[in-house]
Amino acid sequence: MPCNIVVGGFFGDEGKGKIIAYIVKKDNVNLAARGGVGPNAGHTFSLNGQTFKVRMLPSAAFNLKTKLAIGAGVLVNPTILLNEISSFHAHSRTFVDPHCGIIKEEHILQDSRESFLKDKIGTTGTGTGPANADRALRKLSLAMDCSEIKDYLNEVSSMIHSDLDKKKSVLLEGTQGTYLSLYHGEYPFVTSKDVTASSVCADVGIGPRSIDEVLVVFKSYVTRVGGGPLENELGRAETQKRGWLEYGSVTGRERRSSPFNIDLAKRAIRLNGGTSFALTKLDVLYPECADVKDYSKLSTSAKKFVEEIEAELGLKAELIGTGADVDSIIDQRY
Ligand code: IMP
Ligand code: MG
Repeated sequence: MPCNIVVGGFFGDEGKGKIIAYIVKKDNVNLAARGGVGPNAGHTFSLNGQTFKVRMLPSAAFNLKTKLAIGAGVLVNPTILLNEISSFHAHSRTFVDPHCGIIKEEHILQDSRESFLKDKIGTTGTGTGPANADRALRKLSLAMDCSEIKDYLNEVSSMIHSDLDKKKSVLLEGTQGTYLSLYHGEYPFVTSKDVTASSVCADVGIGPRSIDEVLVVFKSYVTRVGGGPLENELGRAETQKRGWLEYGSVTGRERRSSPFNIDLAKRAIRLNGGTSFALTKLDVLYPECADVKDYSKLSTSAKKFVEEIEAELGLKAELIGTGADVDSIIDQRY
């Protein structure tokens, strides 16, 4: 049974939540572990007409058979986590690493008041940057010191290794996107740590040799929320005209947009060691492809779009999203 990673190839909001939810449902994944920064990420997916959003739990939360883990590198907001545990009835299957950092009110205040963070960088205001700064200064409280979540503490790295030894499937969930990486994005318009596949491994406590597949998720167009450069950015009117206007799931801010950027995609594959990719929201570009589940039924122009990307990346589009619902997808994995 494999250990796979899913990461974002652009600026976050590529549709990782939906892709992960599909894989978890289809493959009935045994353990899903979340890496990445923390509650600054919101993963959204729709299942049977109902929309779900998670900011702390892995996107596997809806699947009652999947164990849900949060790796040591992730920052936890206990209030948000406890709410999600309750709404997904996940009390008995949530595991938080004792070394997760804890976000406090002071971090949230700093993130939403300091003009450099709020106005220039345009952070999500969720306290993640200030909390990671405190962690680097070795003064952040950890989950092991937090009584509110004591029932959920468990060493995530050991859980993953023990499941892999038993040949059970593990899915690692990255958050944000490659170009929000503190190292590889356009500093300072980035998040507070690296978010590529290597860091997701480190977040959950697993070495690169234990990974089988790295699935990089791209949306059929690019969006970015907050400050920082966006090549070939379209104006708001054009974004709206193309039906690409989206709103941030954590902050509600309007997302900026640009057409698919093949150079960014190529570099994202290298930075993450991508073994395949997923392409989401193809139906937004080609409405005639809405809810198509069979590749041969895509329109000629949609196929051309997909195949040009495949040729440039030298990889296969293993999953292609054709609608909001988790099952609106073309699965070419096997
Ligand atoms: P922070 O991560 O809240 O410090 O914000 C830093 C930058 O990353 C800002 O431009 C945010 O809008 C962006 N950002 C952080 N997390 C996400 C995400 O999950 N999706 C999209 N943008 C994000
Ligand atoms: Mg998001």
